[in-house]
Amino acid sequence: MNQASALMNTITTPNEYKQAYQQSVEDPEKFWAGVASDFLWRKNWDQVLQWDFAKPEVKWFDGAKLNITENCLDRHLLERGDQTAIIWEPNDPQEDHITITYNELHQRVCQFSNALKDMGVVKGDRICIYMPMIPELAVAVLACARVGAIHSVVFAGFSSSSLADRINDASCKMVITADGSYRGEKIVELKKITDDALQSCASIEKVIVVKRTGKEVNMQENRDVWWHDAIDDMADTCEPEVMDAEDMLFILYTSGSTGKPKGMVHSSAGYMVYTNYTFRNAFQYQDGEVYWCTADVGWITGHSYILYGPLSAGAVTVMFEGVPSYPDMGRFWQVVEKHKVNIFYTAPTAIRALEKADLSFVEKYDLSSLRVLGTVGEPINEEAWHWYDKNIGKGGCPIVDTYWQTETGGFMISPIAGITETKPAFATLPMPGVQPALMDKDGNEIGGNAVEGRLTIKFPWPSMARTIYGDHERFKQTYFSAFEGKYFTGDGAKRDEDGYYRITGRVDDVIIVSGHNLGTAEIESAIDEHDKVCETAVVGFPHDVKGNAVYAFVICYQAPSDEDTLRKEILETVSDIIGPIAKPDKIQFVGGLPKTRSGKIMRRILRKIASSDTSNLGDTSTLLDPSVVDEIMAGAIN
Ligand code: PRX
Repeated sequence: MNQASALMNTITTPNEYKQAYQQSVEDPEKFWAGVASDFLWRKNWDQVLQWDFAKPEVKWFDGAKLNITENCLDRHLLERGDQTAIIWEPNDPQEDHITITYNELHQRVCQFSNALKDMGVVKGDRICIYMPMIPELAVAVLACARVGAIHSVVFAGFSSSSLADRINDASCKMVITADGSYRGEKIVELKKITDDALQSCASIEKVIVVKRTGKEVNMQENRDVWWHDAIDDMADTCEPEVMDAEDMLFILYTSGSTGKPKGMVHSSAGYMVYTNYTFRNAFQYQDGEVYWCTADVGWITGHSYILYGPLSAGAVTVMFEGVPSYPDMGRFWQVVEKHKVNIFYTAPTAIRALEKADLSFVEKYDLSSLRVLGTVGEPINEEAWHWYDKNIGKGGCPIVDTYWQTETGGFMISPIAGITETKPAFATLPMPGVQPALMDKDGNEIGGNAVEGRLTIKFPWPSMARTIYGDHERFKQTYFSAFEGKYFTGDGAKRDEDGYYRITGRVDDVIIVSGHNLGTAEIESAIDEHDKVCETAVVGFPHDVKGNAVYAFVICYQAPSDEDTLRKEILETVSDIIGPIAKPDKIQFVGGLPKTRSGKIMRRILRKIASSDTSNLGDTSTLLDPSVVDEIMAGAIN
């Protein structure tokens, strides 16, 4: 690596950030070619970038050939084969943790890749992964990538019906799951949920099942295979499938403001280059440091910043099976002390929940190994930021508030740890390669500082999603039609007098609850499935731990005789159709909804009622029947 590329690849001073950013905007192709030169390619690219946001079509490193797992595993073996790649910390602190070196991870991935091939998996097949946070999950993801199969990880908190929808949307050929998963004191019967889902999934040929809880499960002959049997006798080397730069690496579903979840498609080369670059730089990862991202691999954060980013950088990455509250609210800090974690990355909702617990849960543990703290998933409020800074970082750890999305694949706006001066609740400045633009409602870019608008990105970055699986038109409509020639994030943002960005939250009908995206339309249609329910409107309202919570206004065919029982049934319906994360916090039975003469629900009014902010409801004159507003206000749940 020459000096110029060293400068572009690794930012070590505020000035280098400025230079890297400037280069990335002035000559993006040169900049990203410099970053990409550090990877293992089977063939170099013909062209760094081709793009047209009108179609939309984006290609990075076209013509190049690679396999991402060679970059995450093989290329580290000579230098750091015996170094720990993954530290796995179980749900139960009494159970032993496991460390897996790069050599071992390579062997396990190869072995399972051979098992997949043996079972007929070929390049391009879609494989659904519905697993607990156990080492086999990392192995399964990487093995899919090694054989060129497209993984679709479904968070193991989703219901059988959500799982079935995702399997069917991508016509997956196989599911990899486990007998069950431990979540604090609970056991979730993953295999049973999978079996229920598969009753309506014709494309599935095989199911691989990891034994985790040891609880008895049904194994269907000719379809279900135990993981340990599948890998038995398999060789522990496996030639990787050589992939094209733009070949699909994975599909990951995210909720939208309308309709069913969107299967975001990520490609191989651009995703690899960008997640590696942003991981190393934003966290300022130093060789040998222990890095812990508390997310689940079922979400994009786990894909990009537990697995692909850290592993491609040869890092030590912690995978945690449990929850922050088990066996008590000190668990995160116990794990930090136990594994001497240097970089700790979590969600604001977790910080707020831990903030509510007694400080003695923090003070019991030695957190002096910590060097950098991170947050992701939703805006962090200033109070939580200060609590994190003072009590966890002891005032000495930079906080990187990383703003990004499932769709963006990697960080968009984030401080560079210790280099970018931080401000509480600000995601601060764009990563190199990211060109944000704030837009007004009429589609004009808002220039200058101390302004607020809708956040768009006006130039492609390597890890952006390429399409929605099976629905390119929806991709175009959702992200590229609101503002011509720009990618629209769906978020609002402020840019302050220093050019720093503060994300203000969603401007569409997506609600972020405990860091999880939920589409109002999806919850409404789940509630409507209850046979007593006629119509529903769902809105978000502020919640001091979850960030936002869900408020449902429900019209029944007949006024319910027992509201509490019906509420319970509705919660069960939502849990069955989507999963427990989507359960409304409040359900109010109403006789009507505030609709305009054209039949559109005025959600603005419902949001105000849900937030107990009814002093000024704004103009209600266009409502078909303004009296419903008084009726709803009278019955509002505070
Ligand atoms: O509203 C933004 C919020 O989370 C959304 C993306 O959610 P998801 O695709 O599930 O990905 C979450 C993990 C990357 C965004 O549109 N969001 C994410 N990070 C932040 C944030 N809002 C404010 N500050 C953040 N740091």
